[in-house]
Amino acid sequence: MVTGGAGFIGSNFIRYVFENTDFKGRIVNYDKLTYAGNIKNLDDISDRYLNSRYFFIKGDICDYKKVFSTLEEYDIDAIINFAAESHVDRSILLPEDFIKTNINGTFFLLEAGVKHSKSKKHFRFHHISTDEVYGSLGKTGYFYETTPYSPRSPYSASKASSDHLVRAYHHTYGLDATISNCSNNYGPYQFPEKLIPLTIINAIEGKDISVYGDGKNVRDWLYVTDHCSAIWLMIKKARAGETYNIGGECEMENIKIVKAICSELESLYPSKNNPFLKDKKYEDLIRFVKDRPGHDRRYAINCDKIKKELGWKQSYDFSNGIKETVKWYLNNKDWIESIKSGDYKKWIKKNYNNR
Ligand code: NAD
Ligand code: TYD
Repeated sequence: MVTGGAGFIGSNFIRYVFENTDFKGRIVNYDKLTYAGNIKNLDDISDRYLNSRYFFIKGDICDYKKVFSTLEEYDIDAIINFAAESHVDRSILLPEDFIKTNINGTFFLLEAGVKHSKSKKHFRFHHISTDEVYGSLGKTGYFYETTPYSPRSPYSASKASSDHLVRAYHHTYGLDATISNCSNNYGPYQFPEKLIPLTIINAIEGKDISVYGDGKNVRDWLYVTDHCSAIWLMIKKARAGETYNIGGECEMENIKIVKAICSELESLYPSKNNPFLKDKKYEDLIRFVKDRPGHDRRYAINCDKIKKELGWKQSYDFSNGIKETVKWYLNNKDWIESIKSGDYKKWIKKNYNNR
């Protein structure tokens, strides 16, 4: 059972498992379909496998009864928990949803997992987490699996809390649980609230590209299918109770990311051919704006452990990953339109306009 499988990483993971592994079983995608969940992210997989090897259940992870009955009905062997509220900016404006889904939701999933696992010989709970639980780095140093937690945004605090619950359920109730803490992902199907897809879409539409503060905050970027391959390896090989860091080993300042996107767009869709740009270049759209409150300065992952112990490595470097990503958004304008015309706008209106 993949929770949050209609979101960015979850949908890429489901596709990865069907297309790139020897998996012969069934996948249940359990998703509440919030503004960030889009069932269309898996149209290709539905066409091939719906109700034979791929099943969709619209449900909330906070709904214990529904989670438990799904585990029982489909005789689930593993939960891979992607379901979360995932955007830092949104957590600053509306922390409550983050507490509900990321903390309470993980708790209900764990409870249901413990009960269900009693009748199973093998059952695994894999929890997807973030490097943001470790806090913020100065100019040097890395996050290791042993780095103490020091979350600094409502989002990262809620993820840290869920990680602690997962570890507690392993130690206290013997649940076979594992955790992965990954750096920033990018690639196809990412919701355009995060830096990379938002920049690409704004640039294509000739809108301002916002860079927070001085643009020198650093993130460690990983192409999404490399995250998926690491999770798959962990499900197959990691021992119960283990945590692995996953990262791109690709630290970049935000301003460099934004400029790299502009330059990729200039070669794939030159500004002179884009009617929204008129006489401008893509880079002319960049604007430095007010900084995010409590903005973490630098994240950098040390992922030697998963490389050494499980033999994982990244397949994409930033230059081929960003080329694939920009191409995907250029070739999937219908997807962009479906997002923009959907519930997202209503949600923003309802929730943000009152703050
Ligand atoms: P996303 O926002 O694109 O997708 C989240 C999915 O969860 C959506 O389909 C949404 O409908 C679903 N969901 C939300 N609340 C739910 C609930 N209460 N019950 C059931 N489903 C619910 O997020 P993403 O970027 O794909 O991230 C997936 C996971 O990976 C999250 O746990 C996130 O913390 C973690 N993560 C993300 C990144 C990143 O760069 N995006 C990096 C490291 C870790
Ligand atoms: P984001 O994609 O929101 O991921 P996270 O906050 O989880 O790292 O942001 C990545 C970086 O880009 C972060 O330092 C904030 C910055 N940023 C901008 O400069 N402009 C933007 O419009 C957005 C969304 C983010």
